[in-house]
Amino acid sequence: MAADKKVTVPAIRSMKSQQRIGMLTAYDYPSAKIADAAGADILLVGDSLGMVVLGYPDTLSVTVDDMIHHTRAVVRGTQHALVVGDMPYLSYHVSTEESVRNAGRFVRAGAHAVKIEGGKPQRIKTVEAILDAEIPVMGHIGLTPQSVNALGGFKLQGKGGDDARRLVDEALALEQAGCFSIVLEMVPAELAAIITERLSIPTIGIGAGPHCDGQVLVFHDLLGLYDGHTPRFVRQYAHVAETMRAAIEQYLGDVREGRFPSEVESFHSANEDELRRLYGREHGGGEVVPLSR
Ligand code: KIV
Repeated sequence: MAADKKVTVPAIRSMKSQQRIGMLTAYDYPSAKIADAAGADILLVGDSLGMVVLGYPDTLSVTVDDMIHHTRAVVRGTQHALVVGDMPYLSYHVSTEESVRNAGRFVRAGAHAVKIEGGKPQRIKTVEAILDAEIPVMGHIGLTPQSVNALGGFKLQGKGGDDARRLVDEALALEQAGCFSIVLEMVPAELAAIITERLSIPTIGIGAGPHCDGQVLVFHDLLGLYDGHTPRFVRQYAHVAETMRAAIEQYLGDVREGRFPSEVESFHSANEDELRRLYGREHGGGEVVPLSR
């Protein structure tokens, strides 16, 4: 999509079979600004925030308040991409009314759409209710990290025949309910290809092979900024944590050796003589001597 154009929900729908969709997560103003300037079609304020930014072992502790705080920052840093807010655990599980209210908080924070995990019948009703409030919804099936305890870990989904059929049915039900796109996470590439072929809305894969209509990666994974476990499906395009650490070590060395700040990084008094007369040692103050002398 042309970098000067604002990406909309209908634009994402129409990219199906026309153009691959490039999506990544963002959690704050600088990451959103960089990803947006690089030409991302969709920025997902993912609840992976819990793991890569807040340091939790999974996404379950993330609250709506956490998500709204970060969504606002991402929105401030975005000019071009579609911003999708990821509804966290327990924000759309209790009642339809509460789900709609929570989805509305994302829109009020500036998000253009929300994402929710799962495709069971109850979830379909929730999707319909959120859509009824004029809020576009992105689905997410396969490995749904908010179900990590029920699934018994972060594992490949849809391996067996029944499980694969269930995922195809869930994808069709989410499309029928009105989702504008669906994330397929950690499913076999062949199954993702079938789902992609059967749907008229775009699929966006993560660990789902090359046949999806788009791909999504977590910002910190693709840049090498997360020191936790990196899944096999991640391609690391940089090793930013190493670059950051080297820069910080250099800075600390410069401070300790008196190399920072330099002359050009310092400000000077307009009238040094007066300063010395008022505060110098001969008037009770200590001599102002640079450390490096
Ligand atoms: O929270 C997240 O980052 C996600 C993506 C992995 C799709 O849901």
